Amino acid sequence: MKIISNRRSQVLAGRIATVTRNPLVDVRWTRFPDGEISLQAGEISDHMVIVGSFVESDDLIELLLLIDICRNAEITLVLPYMSYARQDKQFNPGEPLSARIIARTLGAGVSRVITVNLHEETILPYFGVPAIDLSLAPGMAKFIMSLPCSNPLILGPDAGAARLARDIATGGGEWENDHLHKVRLSGDTVRIEPKVIPVTGRDVIIVDDIISTGGTQSTAASMLYLQGAAAVYTVCVHGVLATGAYTHLTSSGIRGVFSSDTIESACSTYSAAGIIADALIS
Ligand code: R5P
Repeated sequence: MKIISNRRSQVLAGRIATVTRNPLVDVRWTRFPDGEISLQAGEISDHMVIVGSFVESDDLIELLLLIDICRNAEITLVLPYMSYARQDKQFNPGEPLSARIIARTLGAGVSRVITVNLHEETILPYFGVPAIDLSLAPGMAKFIMSLPCSNPLILGPDAGAARLARDIATGGGEWENDHLHKVRLSGDTVRIEPKVIPVTGRDVIIVDDIISTGGTQSTAASMLYLQGAAAVYTVCVHGVLATGAYTHLTSSGIRGVFSSDTIESACSTYSAAGIIADALIS
C-alpha cells in the first residue's frame, strides 16, 4: 500500500504514511500555460490510498487526476473534508443536489471511500462503493482536555451538532453537554434562539463539524457571554475559516479557535491521522 495526496492534504497524508508505515508517493504539481493542472507522480503500487480534502474546485480536479494516475490499482479514497456536503438536499426548484453529483463522480473510479465527520451521513450511498464515515469526537475530547478549562460545558450550536457534543462529552468522562437551536438567515448570518443555560462562571466549548464564516459560533458566544460564561472556546473538525472567520470569532471574545488537520491551517491543533490510519489497517 502507498499513500498519495492532493496539494490540500499533504501534511495529513504524511502523517497517515508515518502512522501506517507506508510510503508516500512524490507528486509534482505544475500548471499548463492556460492554467490547467498538470500532475506527475512517482511509482504507484497495487493498492493506493488517495488522501485529499476537497475545499476549492481545483482540489476536486486534482483528486480526479490522481484517481486516473492510480487507475490500475485498487484505490481507497480518503476524503477528509468534502465541500458541497451541506448541499445534501435540493432546497429550491432548479438547484442541483450538489453533494450527490460530487460523490457519484469521485466514487466512480475508486474501490472504497473513507470520510471524516461528513456533514450528513445520508451522502455516503451516493459514492456507489462501500463508504464509511469516521468521527473525530474521541480526538476532540482528548484535545479539549489539554485546554485550560475546568469542568467544561460542551455545547453544540444547533441540533445538527447535538450528537457530536454528546459524543465528545462522553469521551471526556461525562462532561455536561447541551445544544442550541439555530435558524440560518443568510450565508453568513444566523439567529440563535434564546435559551437560558446555566453558564455563569463556566468555561464553554462550542463544538461543530464545520466553521465556515464563523457566524454560528460568534453568535452563540455572544449569547453565552451575556449569560455570564467565564470563557468560550470553539473546537471544530473542519476549519474552513472563510471570509475572515478567525477575526470574526476572536473579536467576539472567543478565547481559542481550534480545528483538526482535515483542512490544514494555523488552527489545526489535533490530527485525524490516527483514526484514518486505524481504518486503513483494520
Ligand atoms: C451547519 O449545519 C454546520 O454544521 C455548521 O454549523 C455551519 O456550517 C457553520 O457555518 P458558519 O461558520 O458559516 O456559521
